[in-house]
Amino acid sequence: MDASALKGRRIIVGVGGGIAAYKACELVRELGRAGAEVRVAMTEAARQFVTPLTFQALVGHPPLTDYFDPAQEGNFGHLDLARWGELYVVAPATADLIAKIRAGFGGDAVTTSLLAFKGPVVLAPAMNVAMWENARTQENVESLLKEARFSTVGPGAGMLACGDVGSGRLADVGAIVSAVVARLGGGPLTGKTVLVTAGPTREYLDPVRFISNPSTGKMGLALAHEARALGAKVTVVLGPVGAVDRTGLEVVDVVSAEDMAREVLSRVETADAFIATAAVSDWRPETRAPQKVKKGEGPENLKLVRTPDVLLEASRKVAGRAKRPVLVGFAAETERVVEHAREKLERKELDAIVANDVTAEGAGFGTDTNRVTVISRSGPDRVLQGSKRAVAGEILSLLLVSPRG
Ligand code: CTP
Repeated sequence: MDASALKGRRIIVGVGGGIAAYKACELVRELGRAGAEVRVAMTEAARQFVTPLTFQALVGHPPLTDYFDPAQEGNFGHLDLARWGELYVVAPATADLIAKIRAGFGGDAVTTSLLAFKGPVVLAPAMNVAMWENARTQENVESLLKEARFSTVGPGAGMLACGDVGSGRLADVGAIVSAVVARLGGGPLTGKTVLVTAGPTREYLDPVRFISNPSTGKMGLALAHEARALGAKVTVVLGPVGAVDRTGLEVVDVVSAEDMAREVLSRVETADAFIATAAVSDWRPETRAPQKVKKGEGPENLKLVRTPDVLLEASRKVAGRAKRPVLVGFAAETERVVEHAREKLERKELDAIVANDVTAEGAGFGTDTNRVTVISRSGPDRVLQGSKRAVAGEILSLLLVSPRG
């Protein structure tokens, strides 16, 4: 990450009352180390976890904790804070705090200063997985994200403080710092171009019938949005998936495997990374009838031919190049998942492959969550689990932001 992007930047850290509040101490220290000027606001609940004195020692200024305290308000109150800051990070953003921000409450130092703040806000949610998955919480987050001013980082996937496993862990401090840098106009992938394939392909046998699969493109789009949030220029070559969020992405719509191959091959040489998540149909009908085939005249058997392997052809095209993009494949498997994925890693000469057991609960086609194993040429296999967005963020940080080996 280009930490110099933070030199002299004025950042407010709003601390909510969750067990992850202690990590906010590390966050303000890292922001300070990167050269930012930091001021802290704490909710009353946050003070149950960390004392204001801790932040004062780390930042060099007392945090705003009580907007009714004349001494605090007279010195540097909530309105001064809101005017001073260039960017507001809320970490941890608890379910309660997110709900209050969404509703426009202003009953504590964090929400009042946020109400008066006009700049970009980065929310770093952290809570129990059930609270995170609660429809109310999701609705609150989605509603805030409709405003371009708001963005989220995390929550990460893994073991939570309460012992549950899933999404809800505060994003790594490094990821939060990266999100701040990205919002301020830089990011660890700034200047990089990332090419992604996503969704299914359709192979038509006549104008109204096709061979396809149930892919919804969610994993690929999650990777695309995360890469964009990290500063990359992102192109998605997207099969037919219906309405999706295209904000900030260059989307090239395609239908068949052949279309997808053509669009990818014309772009892969200039990309810094190519991530193939598309569920490309491996077969297509040998012929495509120009008119709808009538029941009576249809063939008893359908003759199929192979479609291009988009990833394999892209890999061959850039093989041996001095500036070869990082190649990442996905492997949708139903058995001997890691073994089959490794075979694909070798055969398609990839840098890494993300293996996905599509039969596992909460994984695969159409789900919002995923459980995957990241297999790369260097470093041990890593199992990641959580929302597709959280898993996407971790895949990118493992393979593109701080590659192993
Ligand atoms: N892929 C591709 N073009 C194809 C088939 C697959 O680009 N025609 C890419 C996928 O996007 C994925 C990887 O190759 O990144 C592996 O896809 P998968 O369907 O799991 O494997 P296949 O190569 O099709 O092998 P098999 O059918 O034997 O499982």
